[in-house]
Amino acid sequence: MTRPYVLVSNRGPVRFDLTDRSDGPELTAKRGAGGLVSGLAPLVSRTGATWVAATMSEGDRIVASGGGAEAEGMKVRLVDIDPATYKMAYDVIGNSTLWFLHHGLWDLSRRPRFDRRWREAWSAYRDKNSAFADVLLEMSPHRAIVLVQDYHLCLLASLLRQRRPDLSLVHFHHTPFASSDLIRVLPDDAAHEMLTGLASHDACGFHTSRWAHNFRSCCDELGITSPHTFVSPLASDPQDLSSAATSPACATELAWIDEHIGDRRLVARVDRIELSKNLIRGFIAFEGLLERWPRWRNKVVFGAFVYPSREGLPEYLAYRHEVESVVASINDRWATDDWQPILLDTTDNFPRSIAALRRYDVLLVNPIRDGLNLVAKEGPLVNERDGVVLLSTEAGAFSELGDVAIGLNPFDVSATSEAIAGALELPHVKRREMAQALRVRAAQRTPADWLADQLAAAEQPR
Ligand code: G6P
Repeated sequence: MTRPYVLVSNRGPVRFDLTDRSDGPELTAKRGAGGLVSGLAPLVSRTGATWVAATMSEGDRIVASGGGAEAEGMKVRLVDIDPATYKMAYDVIGNSTLWFLHHGLWDLSRRPRFDRRWREAWSAYRDKNSAFADVLLEMSPHRAIVLVQDYHLCLLASLLRQRRPDLSLVHFHHTPFASSDLIRVLPDDAAHEMLTGLASHDACGFHTSRWAHNFRSCCDELGITSPHTFVSPLASDPQDLSSAATSPACATELAWIDEHIGDRRLVARVDRIELSKNLIRGFIAFEGLLERWPRWRNKVVFGAFVYPSREGLPEYLAYRHEVESVVASINDRWATDDWQPILLDTTDNFPRSIAALRRYDVLLVNPIRDGLNLVAKEGPLVNERDGVVLLSTEAGAFSELGDVAIGLNPFDVSATSEAIAGALELPHVKRREMAQALRVRAAQRTPADWLADQLAAAEQPR
């Protein structure tokens, strides 16, 4: 008999909001964006599994107090966490500490500083994990497989292991994993607690063998026995993408893009405004193209479809301002009466992002470090112009697509300018060949394969 499973993540698949109506407030559910949700929501709803996530809105808290809800065909159970505790755990530990650690984003001469406030936040992170554990202890069916997602919930398995030995616990890390040198930056006790938590799973999965290797090295470095590890890159759902790409909303957005860029070539990127995504070097590299290859002036537009993220953190707000000012200065320098070289669109507009993926001639995916990067797979699946993908060697997706995309060192701005110029000038036959190979490769795995890998990992003998 197949075992029941429970999926656990910080951000849930749906967000509940209270909307004012004439007859009183009404609770509405909205499906979240992002690869995990779009890929897994159809599978989760078919199998009757429950998705457990943190409360983030007032509407979510109402749902949590009622014990759970069915939305978008899924059973959703929300863990009510006091907003101040959640904020410290999410902002200070999840996003400023663990995200920065795994993506190598610290400027070590200044940050991090593990002070008293940080210690309080670590304790909030523990409380958050423990609130998840309480809900899971109570609601997980007998012999269920619990699939824990990402760095926000590293301590959960230690809290479940003893009390529910019937459960199988599988962790999946969607980010890169720190090297064994960098893990030494964390206070010893916290590093130990985090790795012990991860090692309490039956198995830990990663998008690529590089991150799995780093995880095992960190365990070795701290004298912790590593659990079984496995590699299972997530994939986009071609059907979900195709229905987004053929929707009337996407057609409207494609017309909007065409109106702005005319028949010029499009170099595009689709990202969160996120430090690891390396937006600024991308713009500087594009300016290098205009400087060194004058024939492309007025013939190409860089469309950056990037949407705000984690704006509760000063680093992200500052980064957004820097992005805006770099773009403004490049546009000031190069724009003509009828051409603006960079189109910076910071609206969170999913149909427009998909329209950009249909329309690109060159897709720039240049993160300085990335667990996977689903955009690199989504682009080729919907693109209609035999576009070229320039892909950072530091993205997990490079291990799957590296031989059919054009590899980039994300720090090398001159080489990035050269790669953009080379991609724009590739003969059409060559572009078609590469685009075809990328499409085949991007369609090789589905979200169902990813889920099957997680469930298979649960059967590891301990
Ligand atoms: C990354 C993480 C996810 C996270 C997403 C959005 O892809 O791996 O766990 O949900 O970023 O970040 P957010 O902080 O908005 O949930």
